Amino acid sequence: MATTPNAKEGAYKVADMGLVEKGKEAIYVAARKMPVTTRILRDRFAKEKPLKGIKIAGCLHVTKETANLAITLQAGGAEVLLCGSNPLSTQDDTAAALVDAGVKVFAWHGNTSEEFYWCIRECLKQKPNILIDDGADLIVTAHKEFPDLIKSGTIMATQEETTTGVKRFRAMDHAKELKVPLFPVNDARCKNEFDNELGTGQGVLSAIQGMHILMAGKVVVVAGYGHCGQGMALRARGLGAQVLVTEVDPIQALKAVFAGFRVVPMDEACKEADVILTVTGCKDVVTPAHFDQLKDGCILGNLGHFDVEIATKKLYDSCRERKPIRRDVEEITLGNGKKIYLLAQGRLANLVLTEGHPSEVMDMSFGLQSLVSEYIAKNHKVFKPGMIDVPKEIDDKVGQLKLDAMGIKIDTLTEVQYKYIHGYEEGT
Ligand SMILES: NC(=O)c1ccc[n+]([C@@H]2O[C@H](COP(=O)([O-])OP(=O)(O)OC[C@H]3O[C@@H](n4cnc5c(N)ncnc54)[C@H](O)[C@@H]3O)[C@@H](O)[C@H]2O)c1
Repeated sequence: MATTPNAKEGAYKVADMGLVEKGKEAIYVAARKMPVTTRILRDRFAKEKPLKGIKIAGCLHVTKETANLAITLQAGGAEVLLCGSNPLSTQDDTAAALVDAGVKVFAWHGNTSEEFYWCIRECLKQKPNILIDDGADLIVTAHKEFPDLIKSGTIMATQEETTTGVKRFRAMDHAKELKVPLFPVNDARCKNEFDNELGTGQGVLSAIQGMHILMAGKVVVVAGYGHCGQGMALRARGLGAQVLVTEVDPIQALKAVFAGFRVVPMDEACKEADVILTVTGCKDVVTPAHFDQLKDGCILGNLGHFDVEIATKKLYDSCRERKPIRRDVEEITLGNGKKIYLLAQGRLANLVLTEGHPSEVMDMSFGLQSLVSEYIAKNHKVFKPGMIDVPKEIDDKVGQLKLDAMGIKIDTLTEVQYKYIHGYEEGT
């Protein structure tokens, strides 16, 4: 791979170091809205240095919020390496500013699949001790190509940020192929009840941003009524859309019904849709069987982790014409002459078209990642390979710090109340 003026072997490779000042501004704006990660924890980490001597590699969306996580880990004494977890979500200004701040960044917007894995390998070559993943590509590559990092105990433990990654690791663990301790940070309450529901929920706005449509009166199909889908369905309804939900899980489908949404199979929903947004973590949710039935003008977007929910390649192969019409929006003329609009090539629309989750919500996800990193540094000697739940105390701590930062007080259980709800003696 050719070296460019924006690369230094082993230290960084980004798109444009001329963007440093713009990136610094973006990171500052996010920091103001992330008091847990950037004020409370960063200040303590700077004093106590709980991560001194530890190398942390992150394979994360390179956004202004992730930058603040990296800077907090650095303040705690860690050396931080960063690569992108999606070829289209890297914000090049942020990447440049992070290099300027001393983080080893290997990421640029629009890298190819080959370059994507090159970036991951650059991080792993430097023998990190803690891996923070978003989608499992970093940790799976460590298993496949850098087994010595695992055998030698160089990797103390790992963390996974998203639902799809956690599912991959549960499958690996079940098959006895997971060789490192793994904290499924996604499953902590301070993560999935806020980041997935509120952050991705607001991803509905990405669909509007892409085509600048009025949501009121539109038929919006949300595929998958999980943590993310529930937030999205609610917000689309709040904007005045008529929301249809598709599901494969009977209980999630019932939750959607009782929340007042119409639940129908995709085969039916696709015929009515003005907008279809997938967020299932599954593949082939919108397929050629649906493409031909879409209305003229239908907008297709995906917010699930991988670009497999909409059968994009088959759409590209079978269409009559493919034309970029706005940034990250393509007009696709189908074989039947109808025109539809695909957001972000079927990749995470909220991260590609807009800036990803709002900083306020990422504050909690990254507060967790910071505290779990500290927990690993302190306790790694006793961990065994396999899944380890994020300790409840860490989850509760992040929730409490967020409330403190917002100036909100809550009640505390009295001793009598504590005994009552943890006991069985008292009854009718
Ligand atoms: N875009 C983002 O910023 C962002 C943020 C968080 C999570 N994610 C990703 O979004 C996806 C969903 O995450 P989640 O936390 O909501 O997961 P979840 O498991 O809570 O929900 C997924 C839902 O989709 C349903 N489903 C599965 N296959 C389906 C199919 N073929 N058709 C219809 N419904 C189907 C499941 O039954 C489940 O209810 C994952 O890929 C996750 O990694 C993206």
